[in-house]
Amino acid sequence: MKRVVSGIQPTGNLHLGNYLGAIRNWVRMQDEEPGCLFFLADLHAITVWNDPKDLRANIRAMAAALMAAGIDPTRATLFPQSLVPEHAELAWILNCIARIGWLNRMTQFKEKSGKDREGASIGLFAYPVLQAADVLVYKATHVPVGEDQKQHLELARDIAQKFNTDYETELFTLPEPYIQGRAARVMSLRDGSAKMSKSDPSDMSRINLTDDADTIATKIKKAKTDPEVLPADPALLDGRPEARNLVAIYGALADQSEAEVLAQFEGKGFGAFKPALAELTVAKIAPITARYNELRQDIAYIDDVLGKGAARARELARPTVAEVYETVGFLAR
Ligand code: TYM
Repeated sequence: MKRVVSGIQPTGNLHLGNYLGAIRNWVRMQDEEPGCLFFLADLHAITVWNDPKDLRANIRAMAAALMAAGIDPTRATLFPQSLVPEHAELAWILNCIARIGWLNRMTQFKEKSGKDREGASIGLFAYPVLQAADVLVYKATHVPVGEDQKQHLELARDIAQKFNTDYETELFTLPEPYIQGRAARVMSLRDGSAKMSKSDPSDMSRINLTDDADTIATKIKKAKTDPEVLPADPALLDGRPEARNLVAIYGALADQSEAEVLAQFEGKGFGAFKPALAELTVAKIAPITARYNELRQDIAYIDDVLGKGAARARELARPTVAEVYETVGFLAR
């Protein structure tokens, strides 16, 4: 049986990178597979300082954004991670399986902790172990994510494998990262070598799914590019990361390959390409923004969806933790 599980941090806005890299695939998978689980990774969000008022608002806002983007809570299970305590319970056990050396290799920790590694929270260091628990607790087979999460999922597989070997069991299924689509790595609009990210201090670096048409047009107009025209051959975009990123975004939104996009714009400069990209982006995003603005008003509905989703998720997570407790030698609950 296929079991699809994935999460997103409820910090800031849903942006085009999240949408094209992951959420669009969540929606596709939800339509094909019954029993998908999608959660708001609020336990992950507090690995760095998060103001409690903002966090609570962001959990609800992100839930509304996911539903606006097409997640249907009658088909998929949508919930905040913290309301399913089995994630944290399993994470502790897995902390005792994962090795410090494995976590030392995680590039995201190095990026996020920056120069002050000693001052980073232990939660930030152990973050990928919680992420492993998030998927292993449901015995996930497929985890739809963007390219940047690949290393974390490889670690989840290593942890699952070591647990199975140490305890001579086949309890855990090894999860597959499912990285699909034409924009598995959307880059910043200001710097073609950095990924589009919620944590970038410049809002001009990303397109939020809440941006209005004028804001989107301005951000694309000001996006960093080069003075060259667009070539016909995608290979000629090598060494032009900003150009390639905009072409990739266009292709992902229009569902076209790089070559197909370039065939339409060959010989044109960004003065012609950018307005076309802005128009396409607005056309794709405006319906999501409109639904989001409606949904986010209805806090009672959002809380109801999340509460019911958490109850359903717990039903699936509880037996795994019971099995794990039994396996490691704890007394039955
Ligand atoms: P997060 O919240 O940073 O991002 C959510 C999803 O969006 C993808 N993504 C991108 N894809 C393409 N281009 C980009 N610029 C871009 N930025 C973000 C991410 O790959 C991700 O799929 N650690 C995770 C949340 C998490 C999780 C999990 C994911 C916690 N537990 C278990 C999967 C399974 C994170 O911070 O994603």
